[in-house]
Amino acid sequence: MHKHKRMRSMKTDKLIEEAIKIRDKAYVPYSKFQVGAALLTKSGKVYTGCNIENAAYPVSCCAERVAIFKAISEGETEFQEMAVAADSPRPVPPCGSCRQVMSEFFSKTMQIHLSNLKKQTKSFTMEELLPFSFGTDDMS
Ligand code: THU
Repeated sequence: MHKHKRMRSMKTDKLIEEAIKIRDKAYVPYSKFQVGAALLTKSGKVYTGCNIENAAYPVSCCAERVAIFKAISEGETEFQEMAVAADSPRPVPPCGSCRQVMSEFFSKTMQIHLSNLKKQTKSFTMEELLPFSFGTDDMS
């Protein structure tokens, strides 16, 4: 018998692992804060991303957006789950800009798993992360 009840699927655990691993590639000479993201497509492919900073600080790009833009630029449009990880006291909350980008491409029910290195995790649906969000339907 299993000693502990499994709270997440193996698939989600693996996605969180990928997000943790890609942090090594983060280009963060200014903040020294490494973030990793892993995005699972409906077809089962994983696109990873790390944060990439710039001497002109606001030009920096977050890990989540790097992962999403990599996937979109490869023609992906259908996503299952996303994981984000950082060495943060609580599961790392995505910034507002990333939430807006997520909302462009993710369904309202898609799960986004946030983690820290202590493997404390919290999962949210897209709608929970960014309720009442501005979207394409608001321009019709
Ligand atoms: N950052 C991310 O990449 N994702 C988040 O969810 C939070 C913040 C990055 C941006 C910047 O490179 C560094 O973390 C500090 O803000």
